[in-house]
Amino acid sequence: MSATSVIGLQWGDEAKGKIVDLLTEQHDIVVRYLGGNNAGHTVIFGGETYKLSLLPAGILHDSVVSVIATGVVINPKAFLEELGRIVERRGNVPPERMLISDRAHVIFPYHMAEEAAFEKARGGDAIGTTMRGIGTCYRDKAGRTHAIRMGDLVNPERLRRRLEEIVPQKNRAIAALDDDFTPFEVDAIFDEYSKYADQLRPYVTDTTSYLHKAVAGGKKLLFEGAQGCLLDIDHGSFPYVTSSNSSGCGIHSGSGVSEREISKMIGIVKAYTTRVGGGPFPTELDDEIGQHIRDVGNEYGTVTGRPRRCGWFDAVATGYGARLSGVDCIAVMLVDVLDGLDEIKICEAYDFNGVRTTDFPSHVEDLAQMKPIYRTVPGWKSDTTGVRKRADLPANALKYVETVAELVGYPVEIISVGPDREQTILD
Ligand code: GDP
Ligand code: IMO
Ligand code: MG
Repeated sequence: MSATSVIGLQWGDEAKGKIVDLLTEQHDIVVRYLGGNNAGHTVIFGGETYKLSLLPAGILHDSVVSVIATGVVINPKAFLEELGRIVERRGNVPPERMLISDRAHVIFPYHMAEEAAFEKARGGDAIGTTMRGIGTCYRDKAGRTHAIRMGDLVNPERLRRRLEEIVPQKNRAIAALDDDFTPFEVDAIFDEYSKYADQLRPYVTDTTSYLHKAVAGGKKLLFEGAQGCLLDIDHGSFPYVTSSNSSGCGIHSGSGVSEREISKMIGIVKAYTTRVGGGPFPTELDDEIGQHIRDVGNEYGTVTGRPRRCGWFDAVATGYGARLSGVDCIAVMLVDVLDGLDEIKICEAYDFNGVRTTDFPSHVEDLAQMKPIYRTVPGWKSDTTGVRKRADLPANALKYVETVAELVGYPVEIISVGPDREQTILD
């Protein structure tokens, strides 16, 4: 067993990118295995900020190989633009340092058009997706008949054949939903995507076989989670979720590497809760404290720029996420964002129609009825951003973090007090 995994235990944006960056040097290969350019992972070190979406955070380290595995959905244009930005800042990334699975599915312009039509059709109850064609691409993957994989993209005959079959059907389907829709043309998509294919071909390979050989050869793998447990298609707050298994459940299916290879599963949690998009959020703060957290934590989406919804830490939801993923420990992030508060609340249970429960419900209709039962703890009212040792944290800050861990049910191994790599407490 030689692999580590980093999983968000809430609704995404738990600061997984920071922890992946921190752990990368102890590993040989960093693997993204789900989602696509809906993710936004910010990494800050040496005064430089990097915003990664589709590329694994390992790309920032010359010593490791980055792998985009089978379970990822790839927008080729977004990939090439992001890679171009990294190359501009950090130099060339040779194909032996960046591998893309030939089994990964490809996002096409019709996926975005379909998604826009589906979201519009839901009126005021939209899922609130990132509009990147993620769900519609996964839909085609599950449906099989309209899917195009990376291995098809880099084979011109196969690409043309698939587009000739699929595009007319997509045009009919989207036109039925949207009167203003301009049909897509096979030739235009083929020409555009052939150019991407020419640039991507050197990176495309059988990453599953590569990873199996790497494991057999004793290489150390780091799995970079995207999204978070509560956005998991099977286990999250359905339908306000993403379209893949974004809890720890997705590592095996998304990478082809057995979870039995994972020696350490680290659950990442924010010291409070955020959410982007629609869906119930029991501990949401629609008041000046919520706005204070948004301002201090700079809680605006990396991908869409949307203000993130903010609320108190929810130990019911997070504990559920931790158990789903089977974590060994947690990292409590953005603790400094709470520095200025007089008192802080932690949701330790829900009141569901007068009954106390610590179960996360199956249905959002029930989640919407949950009233948080809070434990109120005193704040620490001092700046933690310069603290580097647990013993130097204000007593109330340490107590807060320990209470979070106790309620979630797993020990704290990492505490983060600022966005920079250095602002981390590891002892
Ligand atoms: P991810 O999607 O899980 O990787 O998280 P994001 O990068 O979308 O959001 C986390 C944000 O918090 C980023 O802007 C990070 O730079 C920032 N961040 C990470 N850790 C800390 C921390 O301990 N304190 C503060 N204030 N910001 C942090
Ligand atoms: P990282 O990796 C937070 C949310 C969207 C929307 C729902 C479905 O940065 O933590 P999608 O476009 O995936 O179909 O949208 O999921 N979402 C995220 N929220 N962080 C993310 O990624 C997210 N990726 C998707 O806002 O509510
Ligand atoms: Mg993010």
